Amino acid sequence: MKDYIAAIEAAIEEYIPKGEYKEQRLIDSVSYSLGLKGKRVRPTLTLVFAELCGGDVQAAMPFACAVEMVHTYSLIHDDLPCMDNDDFRRGKPSNHKVYGEDTALLSGDALQSMAYAAMLSDKAVAAVGADRAARAACVLANKSGLLGMVGGQMIDLSIENTEVGIDTVQLMEEKKTANLIEAACMMGCIVAGADDKQIKAAERYAHGIGIAFQIVDDILDVTSTAEELGKPIGSDADNEKNTYMSLLGLERCRELVDEYTKEAIDALSCFDGDTSALAEFALSLAERKK
Ligand code: IPE
Ligand code: IPE
Ligand code: MG
Ligand code: MG
Ligand code: MG
Repeated sequence: MKDYIAAIEAAIEEYIPKGEYKEQRLIDSVSYSLGLKGKRVRPTLTLVFAELCGGDVQAAMPFACAVEMVHTYSLIHDDLPCMDNDDFRRGKPSNHKVYGEDTALLSGDALQSMAYAAMLSDKAVAAVGADRAARAACVLANKSGLLGMVGGQMIDLSIENTEVGIDTVQLMEEKKTANLIEAACMMGCIVAGADDKQIKAAERYAHGIGIAFQIVDDILDVTSTAEELGKPIGSDADNEKNTYMSLLGLERCRELVDEYTKEAIDALSCFDGDTSALAEFALSLAERKK
């Protein structure tokens, strides 16, 4: 799966306008955040599920790029002073520290539009068919939008500095993090022409790894270092966030990561093809250090 990362990064680079533009600052800002070394978890999953469902990996590439664009926009906005107010991301100063809050805001806006332009371009549609392209784009819109990732970010902010139960934290983490990972996996299946049973199984796998992913993120915010993570630690405590860690503590968090990872791996039994790489990937994400 690591082999996909270079191909994804090369494909993303193609979407950056080349030449002289009056809005060069915005282009530079978008290019800066897209180019920083993220783990590329979501686009990799799109390609792996496309391949698993018998699709063409190159045809799935615009959809992989789109999910990384939406993810990158979410990180730029998440770091803004009005949100988590974090100065580092992916080992470098956050977008707004380099380009200013105004440009950072616009970069997120632009990345979101770029995602839909990528999925619905003539070339992308010709490669997978209009029906599949539209369906995949709709999944990304719903999972990243009002009642998905953005909704989860709203819950995250609205419960800062208040006492809530674990159900609220679970709902928040499902929405702000698992939903986009679900979209990534489902889109790979959809563009490859998978049936509904397979799309649902991909969603269940992604739900498991997605919740586990955010619990690990919450753990690392307490236990890791800024050097290793490439972003500040202690940000959640500083912002008086409710997280799995703040409510349940390290030991229970580790158990839950294992439980959700197991749920994810169980969902893979619905596929006929070889899912061992996806099972290993789930385990490696559970043990990740950054
Ligand atoms: C960070 O996502 C935001 C969360 C949902 C926890 P990643 O940990 O995937 O960030 P990058 O893409 O590798 O920088
Ligand atoms: C962010 O969760 C989820 C997003 C939708 C960006 P966090 O706020 O915990 O992510 P990090 O720790 O800043 O990457
Ligand atoms: Mg946040
Ligand atoms: Mg944050
Ligand atoms: Mg975090």
